[in-house]
Amino acid sequence: MALPLHFAIDFGMHSLKLVNLSKKGNSWELKNIGSIQTPPETLNNYKEEQKTLLVEAVKSLVAESKVPYKEVAVALPENAVFSRVLTIPKVSDAEVTDAVYWQLKQFLPYPIEDVQSDFTALSVDPSGQRKMLAVAAPKKLVELYVEILERAGLVPVAIESETLSILRSIKYAQEIKDAVVLDFGANSTDMAIMKDGELFFSQSIATGSDLLTKALVNEFQLSYAQAEEYKRIYGMRSDAVDGKIRNAMKPVLDMILTEVMRGIEFYKTEVGTLPPNLAMLSGEAALLPALPEYLESVLGYDAQLADPWRPIVVPNNIAEIVSKSSPAFTVAIGLCLKEE
Ligand SMILES: Nc1ncnc2c1ncn2[C@@H]1O[C@H](COP(=O)(O)OP(=O)(O)OP(=O)(O)O)[C@@H](O)[C@H]1O
Ligand SMILES: [Mg+2]
Repeated sequence: MALPLHFAIDFGMHSLKLVNLSKKGNSWELKNIGSIQTPPETLNNYKEEQKTLLVEAVKSLVAESKVPYKEVAVALPENAVFSRVLTIPKVSDAEVTDAVYWQLKQFLPYPIEDVQSDFTALSVDPSGQRKMLAVAAPKKLVELYVEILERAGLVPVAIESETLSILRSIKYAQEIKDAVVLDFGANSTDMAIMKDGELFFSQSIATGSDLLTKALVNEFQLSYAQAEEYKRIYGMRSDAVDGKIRNAMKPVLDMILTEVMRGIEFYKTEVGTLPPNLAMLSGEAALLPALPEYLESVLGYDAQLADPWRPIVVPNNIAEIVSKSSPAFTVAIGLCLKEE
């Protein structure tokens, strides 16, 4: 079903990011953009007081960005979404739904009655065995997002997982179909493996960039603001301040990378092939200086920053802001590009 004209909001732990693109012929043009700090503790929070704070934040973001319509697409945080590739033995087309249901029921960490699920066919091998991607989200969480948006005066037209939005962005902007995608956020790092343009594996790693800042606070007795500044200026550069900043943050990044390598191993066993050896980095926290070089040295992969803006026409007066925050809007852009 074709989606109506809509804009997008990415609900992040650190900030809410809004993007509105409009399609002209075959190209997309940026019409509205904005971001606002997420009020603390309000994301995925069912308490009335927190809900109200989040609704107010959404309202101001929408008002400041001056989006001309109410239809909106949003992404659910990856850590709240369950996704898994299922292997379905040869069955008739009519039996596929049942087969998926029983397998999903077995793998889900919560009752199947409590989730909203969806699946897509990835491949069929010559013996008739199918690989299917099942994605499930708690109904309660979907309802929470719908409530927040409606209370902010908006009309939700699509809700999907962050990872699917990111993959759509990368495919469209960079014509890349095979990659290990790492989305660096404030509180988590989400990993996805894309093969032939389809999602084959995803996991949310509960370590994000805020822990890098905290590592600097602890190591050098800095204020949080000062540590944040050092993180953004020096990052993982080994040539700066004798590599001291890098060394203090390294254990945190290595924790993330250990999980990434586990994900890669899991993929190898489940899918039976080597994953693509390109890492695409998204999320604002991917702006950490020298992060791609560090990942290349540890993983042995090529690593590059996602550039979701590449094919999008951006007005001159904001081109500089946009280019500086390039990978930060990957989710929101992917949601705008969703057409069905
Ligand atoms: N230039 C930069 N260099 C390094 N880190 C940065 C830079 N700019 C922002 N960050 C870090 O990025 C994080 C915020 O990233 P982002 O906005 O993508 O998170 P989020 O989407 O709100 O959070 P999440 O995805 O965890 O819900 C913060 O930890 C911040 O310190
Ligand atoms: Mg994010």
